[in-house]
Amino acid sequence: MPAAVEPSLTERNREVFHKIAKDPARLGIEGAFQMLWEEMVCRRHWISPKWTDTEAGKDQEVKLLDYACGYGDISRHLEPYITKAIGVDLAPNMVDEYNRRAREAGIPAEKLSARVGNLLADPVPEDLKDPELYDFDVAIVIGALHHFEDPQLAINRLAERLCKGGVLCVLDNVYAPGLAEEHKRLHPETAATVHKSGFTEEEMQELFENAGLGDGFSFAVVERPFEMKLNGHKITRTIFFARGAKL
Ligand SMILES: C[S@@+](CC[C@H](N)C(=O)[O-])C[C@H]1O[C@@H](n2cnc3c(N)ncnc32)[C@H](O)[C@@H]1O
Repeated sequence: MPAAVEPSLTERNREVFHKIAKDPARLGIEGAFQMLWEEMVCRRHWISPKWTDTEAGKDQEVKLLDYACGYGDISRHLEPYITKAIGVDLAPNMVDEYNRRAREAGIPAEKLSARVGNLLADPVPEDLKDPELYDFDVAIVIGALHHFEDPQLAINRLAERLCKGGVLCVLDNVYAPGLAEEHKRLHPETAATVHKSGFTEEEMQELFENAGLGDGFSFAVVERPFEMKLNGHKITRTIFFARGAKL
């Protein structure tokens, strides 16, 4: 009998987040995400000069790519400052929830919509070559880079989707030894999806610069601790924002 082939990290992410999307209690951390969108919204002018409430973005199209968008909380909270957001996620049920929650909030599909996709696939699938999925002013990857098999490939592929001067913003855990192992121990439900124990500033700068996104690179550690409960265990993370623009 041929040896069973282990599912890839990407396949595990798709399977786990597809299942969990319709049962957010199993994610165990949904309430904690409020802090993420609060920090994101209040830092938006540090992240990018172009939003609908800035001189650079007033009366202009301001297009946001929310990659690995999950439920779309960040897209919905940035909605007043953009003209259009497109979410992309591996997990069909996450995409379904992104779209359902946006409609429930009264935001039309012309403004916020998500689709299933994996930019890390080789070759990139045809449906991700849709011209709508290029020329973004801002791309964000919030709390997801540590789930990706190849963060450099992800950042390279996101850089291709930005317009000249467009900005990538990543939010993730500041590296600390053992974070991934702690997550796996406390939350078997999502254990198979976690790949890295966060990132250092040097690592992030290298990832951005290698992708041609080193212009104005900046790394900011969030002072407020990110607290969440995993199966009843309170854990605290230090998170960062990294931003850089395409030359
Ligand atoms: C912890 S959630 C973060 C969701 C969202 N960014 C937020 O802030 O709420 C991680 C998400 O990454 C998605 N994901 C994992 N690997 C992916 C990949 N290669 N491409 C696209 N999405 C991916 C999962 O399906 C999941 O929805």
